[in-house]
Amino acid sequence: MKNIDTLLHVKGESQFTDDLILPEGTLHAAVFSSPIAHGKITHLNLETAKQVDGIYAILTADDIPGDNQIGVIIQDEPMLAVEEVHYIGQPIALVIAKNADIARTATMAIAIEFEERPAIFDAREAYVKEQLIGAPRTLSLGNIETAWQNCDVIVDGKVESGGQEHIYLETQSVFAYPTENGGLKVISSTQSPNDVQRMISSVLNLPMHKIEVDVLRLGGGFGGKENQATPWAVMTALAAFKLKKSIKLVLNRDEDMRMTGKRHPYSSDFKMGLTHDGKILAYQVTFYQNAGAIADLSPGILGRSLFHATNSYFIPHVKATGYICCTNLPPNTAFRGFGSPQGIFVIESAIFKAAEQMGIVPSFIQKKNLLKTGDEFPYGMKVENSQAFSCWEKAEHEIEKREQKIQNFNQIHSLLKKGMALIPICFGISFNGALFMNQANAIVHIYTDGSISVSTGAIEMGQGVNMKIRQIVANIFSVSLNRVNIESSNTKRIANMSPTSASLAADLNGNATKLACLKLLDRLKTLAAKKLNVASTEDLQIKEEILHLKGEPTDLNWQSLIVDMYLNRISLTSHAHYRIPNLYFDESKEKGHPMAYHVFGTAILEATLDCLRGTYKIDSVKVVHDFGKSLNPLIDKGQVEGAVVQGIGWMTIEELMYADNGSLLTDTLANYTIPDIRFAPDIEVDFLENSENPLGIFNSKAIGEPPFLYGIGAYFAILQAMKAFRPTLTGQFSAPLTSEKVLLSLYKV
Ligand code: MTE
Ligand code: MOS
Repeated sequence: MKNIDTLLHVKGESQFTDDLILPEGTLHAAVFSSPIAHGKITHLNLETAKQVDGIYAILTADDIPGDNQIGVIIQDEPMLAVEEVHYIGQPIALVIAKNADIARTATMAIAIEFEERPAIFDAREAYVKEQLIGAPRTLSLGNIETAWQNCDVIVDGKVESGGQEHIYLETQSVFAYPTENGGLKVISSTQSPNDVQRMISSVLNLPMHKIEVDVLRLGGGFGGKENQATPWAVMTALAAFKLKKSIKLVLNRDEDMRMTGKRHPYSSDFKMGLTHDGKILAYQVTFYQNAGAIADLSPGILGRSLFHATNSYFIPHVKATGYICCTNLPPNTAFRGFGSPQGIFVIESAIFKAAEQMGIVPSFIQKKNLLKTGDEFPYGMKVENSQAFSCWEKAEHEIEKREQKIQNFNQIHSLLKKGMALIPICFGISFNGALFMNQANAIVHIYTDGSISVSTGAIEMGQGVNMKIRQIVANIFSVSLNRVNIESSNTKRIANMSPTSASLAADLNGNATKLACLKLLDRLKTLAAKKLNVASTEDLQIKEEILHLKGEPTDLNWQSLIVDMYLNRISLTSHAHYRIPNLYFDESKEKGHPMAYHVFGTAILEATLDCLRGTYKIDSVKVVHDFGKSLNPLIDKGQVEGAVVQGIGWMTIEELMYADNGSLLTDTLANYTIPDIRFAPDIEVDFLENSENPLGIFNSKAIGEPPFLYGIGAYFAILQAMKAFRPTLTGQFSAPLTSEKVLLSLYKV
């Protein structure tokens, strides 16, 4: 088992923040948060709580030495609430005690009173009341106004998609302690150590160099720790700073579920115009994004919904508009796909409806409009190397047989029906909302025993990025994988790192690592050339730790050369910086070249519906995916499988429910259902052959998020099965498509 992480996980030996051996005297924190969704704090009394035995301190906004502000894109997020609260679960105070139980008990002794204000939980309602964050944003291509008159078929409708809880296995956790001379060290389960460092710096009014943030690994992030690990880390740092003690804070599962934001629910309107033969001429969409109470990453996420509004299709006339609607829910945040799934669900719904109206299968329209090289996206960029068609064709192989089988099945079964859906995907790779983030640094040390230490900003969270970086190093030096160790991501070693998100960690950090290794290799070869008395390094190559000259082995090897470098006082450390080339975007025109490249693929999903109970099973998912030249097929296949299941969960069984006052009812794993191994379908992953990607590391393509989009097909496969049972049924587009919803619409009168 070459992936060290996998081995450690299986043995239960991998360390997470909660596993750290604590220094004696460590105190524990618990968060006191708002019990109401919207109101003015009229009275706050901590005295009784402070009397609880074992309490050390209760910190509020008054204890903050710097700026009580942790908003990343818009400065609208106080770390601890003052005067007003805007959602249930909004942190108000931090209780520090001998242990976590006492801290939690004391939160219940805090006396607070409010003047309650009306709360809004629905995006459209917020829109009507003009509760918007920022200005609306529109992307357009062609001329939508005049395009409608050339369309033979026009459909319109409304689409809803629900939120989604991240359910990372490891809940939000932090351990912080004071270091000498007023500094702090913070171990945080964050995807973005740099943001944690920056926010601690401004909240505590300390220079960034005093704050060391270190991340060994996460027990999953899925976007939920890109920005939302920050408040807990900063609070804990505040406590460590004020009390001069080491402090630990780990949210319980129900606290985590109640206090942190989720995938944004969207409500959308669409209008689509087509020719008789299925060519889409015009597409108009308006997204109402439910941001929750605070901006968080919502503007960036809305951007991706807009950029991906047309999925894998070329449409000459497009207008896509988005509103960020401010409601009284916890701030919704990044979640695998970063707004693209919400956008793509809408256009797939529009195509479904158009097909229904035209009496054809959706796949006819899908195939007809696939992106070709040279086609333009509404954001101005042209498709550089479209693999949309090649993936589709490969997936479609033997489709008639499948269709026939389903028809036969449906003919003989009256209460069981099968349905099938195809879904092509296209996902752009880059931090498209903030192009400056497309950079990374790496530091590589080689020790005199020939072992190698690599530091980057990539955070290992189960996606295998550490293994990929080890492979890159072992490959460039042609040394054994065992020689390479990936260090924790640490803000003292790597400054100003971008978060591990946007599926970019391997690309960005891998490329920086590659550049750093090439510098070292060059130094090594220069020394070797001298020793071998050859004029140039061109004919030198390391093969499996042996230096070769013109393909023939020499007496020199990795180990001896490294020692020689040291003895000759040649640096065995190198640093490199990488940035994605050729990115630009003109925000005033909403046009540019914001993506490094695009990832393509197609999936076919089949579902069986029990029409008596409304229950269903997703039977199979066949994926043809464009991995470029996969760095690690096993890891990449795992990423596809996990993402597909997560995507299906979002579309089908994962349902967030709230009481009328806005409190989350589904705040445990007993009542918020996620896919388990019995729910997961058979997933077949086919690698598209002959795909090149010079812009990815070693010709690979980013993999983390795009396959989530295949899960959207589950909705339409179930819908087809429903229609097989009840042919008069017309498509309703409101995810998740729970069994209750299915049952009601199968028998609705
Ligand atoms: N896979 C696992 N096992 N755990 C995770 O938390 N996060 C996903 C994806 N795959 C995640 C995962 C998300 S949201 C992103 S952006 C990418 O991994 C980030 O890692 P990468 O850039 O290395 O692909
Ligand atoms: Mo992933 S949503 O970009 O962390």
